[in-house]
Amino acid sequence: MKNRDLFSIEGKTALVTGGGAGIGYMIARGYVEAGARVYIASRKAEVLEEAARELNEIGDCTAIPADLSQEEGCQQLAQEITERESTLDILVNNAGATWGAPLEEFPDSGWDRVLNLNVKGVFHLTRALIPALEAAGNAEDPSRVINVGSVEGIQVPLAEAYSYAASKAGVHHLTRVLAHRLAKRHISVNALVPGPFRSRMMASTLDELEDVIAENTPLGRIGRPDDIAAAAIYLASPGAAWLTAVLLPVDGGISGTH
Ligand SMILES: NC(=O)c1ccc[n+]([C@@H]2O[C@H](COP(=O)([O-])OP(=O)(O)OC[C@H]3O[C@@H](n4cnc5c(N)ncnc54)[C@H](OP(=O)(O)O)[C@@H]3O)[C@@H](O)[C@H]2O)c1
Repeated sequence: MKNRDLFSIEGKTALVTGGGAGIGYMIARGYVEAGARVYIASRKAEVLEEAARELNEIGDCTAIPADLSQEEGCQQLAQEITERESTLDILVNNAGATWGAPLEEFPDSGWDRVLNLNVKGVFHLTRALIPALEAAGNAEDPSRVINVGSVEGIQVPLAEAYSYAASKAGVHHLTRVLAHRLAKRHISVNALVPGPFRSRMMASTLDELEDVIAENTPLGRIGRPDDIAAAAIYLASPGAAWLTAVLLPVDGGISGTH
């Protein structure tokens, strides 16, 4: 392979969950700009359609509404993908939710909402798409599952986000467990571990604390769309064909130095 092709994902087919907004949109946009055919999926059809319309101006993007907090929603999405595509090269499990409340008041529903999507959703959608992923991969170039974890799954978060922190630690370990199980089927499973990026989930925190957070980040700023897109492209590219079970921090040095 020529060096210039090491990071090419041109012509690959990708599904990015939560791809209509925030980090998912940053990744979907990066993939579309790199020449991949990209599907984005989440609950809000209008948000997704708007994102797909924008991305279709630069490449190929299709919106499919889905609720991934239920196994049935994951199976339906997998079915819609396999009706359109015989194989799937890249699955990015990005959709996620958080919940904040003081310890004594933290509700049981704050566990269900977060774990159903962040952990069970990753498991159910990946499992439902194994046939399409298996059909795309081979020993030289496995198909890719890329989960989105969080530095809050490594470090104790500042906010009282009990179920979120536990869910992201779960995503990290599930990544390793699935990597072990799927390697022989030519599917690699890695995780991006983002630090702070501007999104709806982070809007109020960053409106209040961006300067403090940037000051406490070794590289002195929060993440930019290109930071996460580049890492997602790398994990999907031929250059990362021999990586599996890797947790890749994209956090300006937060998790490595604190
Ligand atoms: N931003 C950060 O600083 C940061 C840091 C570390 C990790 N992360 C992780 O990055 C991922 C994206 O978060 P974000 O920050 O970009 O937040 P966001 O803007 O709130 O995006 C969350 C995405 O998940 C989708 N989603 C929520 N519930 C869903 C459901 N039941 N079924 C399908 N899709 C659903 C949302 O779309 P709909 O509302 O249309 O369903 C949205 O596209 C999450 O896994 C998050 O934990 C973010």
